[in-house]
Amino acid sequence: MIAEMDVAAFCRQSHVLIVAGKGGVGKTTVAAALARATARCGLRTLIIELEASSGLAAAFGQSHGLSYHESSLELGGPGGPNSGERADPGAEGPGRTEGSGQGEIRGRVLTPDDALLDYLADHGLRRVSKRLMSSGAAEVISTAVPGVRDILVLGKVKQLERTETADVIIIDAPAAGHAITFLTSAAGLLDSARGGPVRSQASEVVEMLSDPSRCQVILVTLPEETPINEAVETAYKLEDRVGISLGPVVVNGLYPHLEGLDVDPLAVAGAAGITLAGGQAEAMREAAVFRGRRQQLQSEQVRRLAEALPLPQITLPYLFTTSIGVAQSAMLADALVEGIRALPEPGPDGYGGQLPDLAFTGPVSPGDLGP
Ligand SMILES: Nc1ncnc2c1ncn2[C@@H]1O[C@H](COP(=O)(O)OP(=O)(O)O)[C@@H](O)[C@H]1O
Ligand SMILES: [Mg+2]
Repeated sequence: MIAEMDVAAFCRQSHVLIVAGKGGVGKTTVAAALARATARCGLRTLIIELEASSGLAAAFGQSHGLSYHESSLELGGPGGPNSGERADPGAEGPGRTEGSGQGEIRGRVLTPDDALLDYLADHGLRRVSKRLMSSGAAEVISTAVPGVRDILVLGKVKQLERTETADVIIIDAPAAGHAITFLTSAAGLLDSARGGPVRSQASEVVEMLSDPSRCQVILVTLPEETPINEAVETAYKLEDRVGISLGPVVVNGLYPHLEGLDVDPLAVAGAAGITLAGGQAEAMREAAVFRGRRQQLQSEQVRRLAEALPLPQITLPYLFTTSIGVAQSAMLADALVEGIRALPEPGPDGYGGQLPDLAFTGPVSPGDLGP
């Protein structure tokens, strides 16, 4: 029997989990599923959205988006109302740790402007901050120095991490290109700022980002060429420039493997005593060829990712649905938990310590990887 990764141990590995990847690959969807997985282990979970979208709230059955103030997305306790999980505490659901009930999931938005106001208020400048906001000066300050907006946000995340307000904090990060800037700007500011509050803030942020017990990045990608290239590039840049710990890569949207795509529709219908109407057999054949081709392309891309990026993968199925609601989000959490169970044990520096140094020199094209 293969050793199983303990799901609760995985979820407890780092205090902050940053979900990053190219726009549209499913970061928000995966962040929601991950929150369900950590909450199922009994952990109090806080999701922070950096770019407000209604996708996250929808995955918890809420029609209105999140706000700056924390709100409960799902209550704790066995099953929890609205959780999409079975309410029977004895149920052998995936990820359920015996006796540990469901942790509450809370959510909030965090923008640089909010973070600046908080920073000023924390430093006894609440009255100033009101005037700054109404005069539009806050915007000027936070955009004056490159990287300051990112430091404000990450500084706030670091503060939340320190207050133990949640057992796990999940960050729904900005799209890949911006995620690199976002996560590397603290290190950049450390080089340029000589002293003062910006430098100390940057140094504390870098400390958090480079400590695997406090923070790790979970990259999300689709099994497609461009998102995979971006994921590989992002992984190496983050390791190299910030020394940030990388968790497993989540490959989202994998078509479930269908058997029997190569059967002849006419023959099968005939054997079952069914007469197909004109064009039906041909339409079925075309659909089967299309699906088979998609499956094949996807597995080629997954293989390419494995060769280009030596991180363990967790795959999530493509769900044939128009939107991700509570039920779909819970299904993806099941798949995530299953994937976590199958992971190898991480090293002391997470999985990223396994990345070969500076092996990455540019986007990988399929031709680079041999036959
Ligand atoms: N596994 C999946 N199956 C089906 N649809 C998905 C899946 N993951 C994400 N989606 C859909 O894809 C779109 C993009 O996902 P989203 O999580 O918003 O991506 P991102 O946050 O990276 O921009 C959304 O419409 C979402 O509902
Ligand atoms: Mg998103």
